[in-house]
Amino acid sequence: MSRAEVRKAVIPAAGLGTRFLPATKASPKEMLPLVDKPLIQYAVEEAVASGIEDIIVITGRGKRAIEDHFDRSVELEENLKGNGKAQLLSQIRHISNLANFCYVRQSEALGLGHAVLCAQHLIGDEPFAVMLGDEIIDAPVPGLAQLIHTYKKRRGAVLGIQEVPHQEVNRYGIISPERVADGLYKVADLVEKPAPADAPSNLAVIGRYVLPPEIFPILRKTKPGKNGEIQLTDALKELAKSSPMFALEIQGNRYDAGDKLGFLIATVEFALKNPSLGADFADYLRNRTESSGEHRRTSRA
Ligand code: G1P
Repeated sequence: MSRAEVRKAVIPAAGLGTRFLPATKASPKEMLPLVDKPLIQYAVEEAVASGIEDIIVITGRGKRAIEDHFDRSVELEENLKGNGKAQLLSQIRHISNLANFCYVRQSEALGLGHAVLCAQHLIGDEPFAVMLGDEIIDAPVPGLAQLIHTYKKRRGAVLGIQEVPHQEVNRYGIISPERVADGLYKVADLVEKPAPADAPSNLAVIGRYVLPPEIFPILRKTKPGKNGEIQLTDALKELAKSSPMFALEIQGNRYDAGDKLGFLIATVEFALKNPSLGADFADYLRNRTESSGEHRRTSRA
């Protein structure tokens, strides 16, 4: 693999969002707002801050709002301009200028591996990133930039990982690691959502990948695996047999915002960090904790 620049990112967004029903019955889960921005915008901003120019979103039925979000909104812009709301106007314009956007429809939700395969004709023969938008990574160096840095040095696929509690390994792709350096591993093997007793480690793939185009012919041959879906993990397992694959522990805070509890935690953390809301929200939380402590003390008395 001699190609070095990672310019394109694939964001699979065709899933049904079953973990977040009923909110996701008629609205894309990717558009759930974390404070005031939809989840998918965090992934797009991370991509852009990591040097990505082209964003390929894999969409499906009922996902129109995603395209509208990253498009110009002429009426809204006119309105904001007319009302002298310059700051909001520039925020709104900025969204449609973030990157070049392309949309590919995945007509059936056949799995993450299948979703990635849908982007093959737009990727061509170059390395690319895959980003799962419900994983939010909050880090001084963007999560994807950390992977791209390693990719440039090592010239192999790089998977973003973090340690997870042993009992939670069955929610993730789990690697079988061979330590290379601090936080960097060679991936000997990987398995999708193993039972805790069968897991080779507690190092979980957290929705950020830099992959070579050699993954595509493998994906094309990958049969449905766990849950009857074409799994990216199964194709990666195959790729690891023929080319170098690394896993890098991403430095930063990760939130699984596709899960109700993870979403609430991410909301609290991002609200507390928000420059215009943080202080008031912190006051609210403090008063609330104190008064519920009061309440507990009174009800025990
Ligand atoms: C997917 C991948 C899994 C990975 C996880 C990270 O699973 O299949 O390997 O660890 O994302 O979020 P999903 O959460 O889509 O079921």
